[in-house]
Amino acid sequence: MIITEGLTKRFGDVTAVDGLTLDIGRGEIFGFLGPNGAGKTTTIKLLTGLLRPTSGRAWIGGVDVQAEPRKARRLLGLVPDQPYVYPLLTGKEFLRFVGDLYEEDLAHQKRRIPELLEMFELDKVGDELVESYSHGMRQKLVLASVLLHRPEVIFLDEPMVGLDPKSARLAKDIFTSMAAKGVTIFMCTHVLEIAERLCGRMGIVQRGKLELVGTVQELRTLAGSEGPLEDVFLSLTGGTEYRDMLKYTLPLSLRFL
Ligand SMILES: Nc1ncnc2c1ncn2[C@@H]1O[C@H](COP(=O)(O)OP(=O)(O)OP(=O)(O)O)[C@@H](O)[C@H]1O
Ligand SMILES: [Mg+2]
Repeated sequence: MIITEGLTKRFGDVTAVDGLTLDIGRGEIFGFLGPNGAGKTTTIKLLTGLLRPTSGRAWIGGVDVQAEPRKARRLLGLVPDQPYVYPLLTGKEFLRFVGDLYEEDLAHQKRRIPELLEMFELDKVGDELVESYSHGMRQKLVLASVLLHRPEVIFLDEPMVGLDPKSARLAKDIFTSMAAKGVTIFMCTHVLEIAERLCGRMGIVQRGKLELVGTVQELRTLAGSEGPLEDVFLSLTGGTEYRDMLKYTLPLSLRFL
């Protein structure tokens, strides 16, 4: 459902995405992990047609994203890293607006919008202006809007940021049940516990390059660590240097205690 071949994006001297080659199947929940600035959001922008690649190609559900962006976008839903919503629309109006953009018929929208508002516990504020919503409420509204047009592939950029534990659980349950119905989910997250729990496979990206792809177990084997995913991730991304640093500095500083 998601295929890329040598996908590359340069901004001046910075290569944000460097020769990315991926193949993600129907119903997979794929976790895309990597340090800040590794190129995750840029990858999502390339895959959803918001940015043009410098080179390489991408297909969503067999549709070439660059050649047929409108057709590709119809198949996908995007939850960006910031909940972009129009403050002067009500929650219901925002959902109607998104429904109309996707040319969903009115009968479907009339049935589905109240269901989605209730599902995300926004039914009581559905007639209030979005400008009065908290960050988490906006995030939930965007999640609801993505479910409105029944996408086959969903891109999530840090979907749980700002959600309270109950809403985060709800979102996780929704993603799992959608994947079970054959929807493909591509998720960037820094919350390793979410990646471990939800994602069948994950890819680790660093400085634009996809370094590793595998199941949690495969990544554990590679890292030679049976510990928490955080340790595996840090050892694979070279983030454990600070520990070595601590090893040397601690005894020294302890001498002064
Ligand atoms: N529009 C842009 N113009 C110039 N450079 C950009 C632009 N967008 C991203 N970059 C650069 O590309 C690199 C990758 O950025 P990106 O936002 O994709 O990282 P990320 O993996 O999503 O990071 P984070 O975990 O912090 O969200 C960074 O070096 C960033 O500065
Ligand atoms: Mg990002």
